[in-house]
Amino acid sequence: MRFMQNQSHPYRSVLYMPGSNPRALDKAKSLAADALILDLEDAVAPSEKLRARELVVEAVRAGGYGRRKLIVRINAFSTEWGEADLAAVAACGADAILLPKVDAPGDITAAAERMGNAPEKTRIWAMMETPLGALEANAIAGAHPRLEGLVLGTNDLMKELGCAARPDRMPLLAALSLCLMAARAHGLVCIDGVYNAFRDDEGLRAECEQGRALGFDGKTLIHPAQIAVANEVFAPTEAELEHARAVVAAFEEAQARGEGVAVLDGRIVENLHVETARRTIARAETIAALADG
Ligand code: COA
Ligand code: MG
Repeated sequence: MRFMQNQSHPYRSVLYMPGSNPRALDKAKSLAADALILDLEDAVAPSEKLRARELVVEAVRAGGYGRRKLIVRINAFSTEWGEADLAAVAACGADAILLPKVDAPGDITAAAERMGNAPEKTRIWAMMETPLGALEANAIAGAHPRLEGLVLGTNDLMKELGCAARPDRMPLLAALSLCLMAARAHGLVCIDGVYNAFRDDEGLRAECEQGRALGFDGKTLIHPAQIAVANEVFAPTEAELEHARAVVAAFEEAQARGEGVAVLDGRIVENLHVETARRTIARAETIAALADG
């Protein structure tokens, strides 16, 4: 079975919500998030696990989420809920199943096997949140064609590493970069971890900007108040778009003269720069189409 890589949807803002919270599940239908993670794992207390599964399956079935991608995070197969979570979610038409604490490529292939004849549209996403997972990122990212995205679990990573929580996230950079490289090497979406202080817009903006600079597609979020900042930071700016258009124009003019490289504002423009510029333009168009739709 072959799976098409989904390049046509932005993932600037990916909002978690507890699957046990019907108010959040309902509110999400009107929020400007590009994707939602309906959580059955750590945001749900053990006594609520079964009810959360029912609520989430019912919410996905009922729909009403428009353009938002619906990703359901299930419990690990090592828990009493994991297997039944997967079976229920695979059958309900979610866009993706998010596996927690992925340590090895076998975790992905095991989930893919259990998904059997689940609709092709239901993809697998992986939480990258353990030291082993980060070290195995390349093998994990290439494990199965149903895998579509990686999500960094920075709170778990910090706990496992025993590292300090610093605004510059220096202790996490190696893990962030390893996962990002693996995602890019295998054509996957890659989403940065959450920013815990959900009333601190300035801190969130700084961390979004760092994530974007590193190459992430977007940020996972815990509160609706964080959506606008992520949507803004992870979209191309007007200046970036203008520059991208100028790069394409300069290169096309050079080509028309029979030259292979152009010069724009004192900088060389080669084919690879044009590819990046075209990607920026395409990304802006995808976001605009989404806003219109
Ligand atoms: N998704 C959707 N809606 C959410 C939401 C979320 N993550 N977080 C809050 N809301 C809603 C609330 O239900 C409330 O809606 P209402 O006005 O219709 O009642 C509104 O947004 C304002 O919420 P607020 O009172 O500011 O927040 P809170 O104190 O109720 O909740 C948290 C704060 C952190 C507990 C809550 O945001 C949350 O549960 N976040 C997700 C946590 C999670 O999923 N973690 C797992 C991965 S890290
Ligand atoms: Mg976690």
